[in-house]
Amino acid sequence: MESSIHPGPTILVIFGAGGDLTWRKLVPALYNLYVDRWLPEQFAVIGLDLKPMSDDDFRAHLRDGTDQFSRRGKADPAAWDGFAARFALNAADFADPAAYKALAERINAQEQQWNAPATRVYYLATPPTLMKTIAENLAQAGLAADRARNRVVFEKPFGHDLASARDLDGALNTIFDERQIFRIDHYLGKETVQNILAFRFANAFFEPMWDRRYIDHVQISVAEEVGVEHRGGYYDHAGALRDMIQNHLLQLLCLIAMEPPVSFEAEEIRNKKLDVLHAVRPILPDQVDRVAVRGQYGAGRIAGKPVAAYRAEPGVAPDSRTETYAALKIYVDNWRWQDVPFYLRTGKRLPERTSEIIIQLRPAPHQSFPSTVVGEWQPNRIVINIQPAEGILLRFQAKQPGLNMRLGPEDLRFTYKEAFDTESPEAYETLLLDVMQGDATLFMRADQVEAAWTIVMPVLDHWASVKPSEFPNYAAGSWGPEAAEQLLAAESRRWLLPTFASRDPDAPDTPDV
Ligand code: BG6
Repeated sequence: MESSIHPGPTILVIFGAGGDLTWRKLVPALYNLYVDRWLPEQFAVIGLDLKPMSDDDFRAHLRDGTDQFSRRGKADPAAWDGFAARFALNAADFADPAAYKALAERINAQEQQWNAPATRVYYLATPPTLMKTIAENLAQAGLAADRARNRVVFEKPFGHDLASARDLDGALNTIFDERQIFRIDHYLGKETVQNILAFRFANAFFEPMWDRRYIDHVQISVAEEVGVEHRGGYYDHAGALRDMIQNHLLQLLCLIAMEPPVSFEAEEIRNKKLDVLHAVRPILPDQVDRVAVRGQYGAGRIAGKPVAAYRAEPGVAPDSRTETYAALKIYVDNWRWQDVPFYLRTGKRLPERTSEIIIQLRPAPHQSFPSTVVGEWQPNRIVINIQPAEGILLRFQAKQPGLNMRLGPEDLRFTYKEAFDTESPEAYETLLLDVMQGDATLFMRADQVEAAWTIVMPVLDHWASVKPSEFPNYAAGSWGPEAAEQLLAAESRRWLLPTFASRDPDAPDTPDV
């Protein structure tokens, strides 16, 4: 977890420095760390990319990304110059050992100039197919040998399925210690996601009721307004289950369902999360259709504007069977959660961007009030909005003002924006700083990744073998396929979104009965 220790001398090597991730996420995050004085004085970035670029062009390109995507808006010219001076670009073929020799020389020269050994962070912002090649070449060039000083960061997807994830882990384990490997799940770096741990374990209010006796069910929804944008080539081979549920949503599930940690040590937190994944009831192949729903968007309208169908997006096959929406019902088989359903859903081209976790409580055990008193009755609910509202809401019954006794739902709301003056750091700021500090708490361990693949494999296998006949089955701008509604309706429940409404405060949000 974030600490106040500033990192020592650091050389960050970015593989894929000309790519989108570097431009949109990594460099804006580094810039903010720089402005907030988290970066050490001795800090340098060596960008590697197949495409050659002069250092000046590289910096201009990075500035353009920072201006567009930094939470601070346009970069301050003076701050930018000091920051950008630390960046250089090397053209490199990642399969060519000569590139690693040149890299080693450059790193050595930098350390000599500083007269200090540096922590080296190798960040693989590359397609997953290159991960093994890069790792092996780093090892051959002697760049992984010092286990305390060399760290390697992998972006998701980590494997395409359980077998390939194991294969990759096997290869990496021959080169690195597990403690050198940082597997990013950027959701874990989000301020509000980290706050789930504080909310649960720094307060005495909630833990006594945080189990099957009081909680009816949990909904985890990650809705996106965007389509696949320019990532059709990757996404069409992934789909929503691989792209979002296997990692981000299962990690959210872990934070909601885990047992209280004994300490906030990386291994302790990761062990407790792994326990949740191990407790997830296996989905049997013949049950997939009862617990999982897939969807693909057709043409529709978002915020009043027409948008194309998924199959018409660049890089997507015209007869693609890839799901852009997935919903899953999960049970966690342990004492705390026995028979409490966790409903997970995510989709692209939904009506708005919102990520919410809703913990729906059971009804009060005895209803003392006559039904005439209870107006718009709703069970109690805890809502954790990860984005965009960044808040927590408690919904409870209150007496409505007036001489008669009438009850209705009211909300207690907390939002980061209202509570704090400062802006939350972006997920990548937190995660990049953690890597530099060597703190792996918010990163995925190999066994967690494999346990998550194990959960989704029966669904992936079934979906690969049974062609979806009805795609596209939801219009862009709708809340997903009808079958997803049925998944809950079959259990007399319904999806509850958005409780923190951003666009339509009167959005349907009817009681669960
Ligand atoms: C990424 C997925 O991991 O998360 C994308 O690959 C998705 O498809 C993105 O759009 C969503 O992240 P955020 O932070 O915008 O919710």
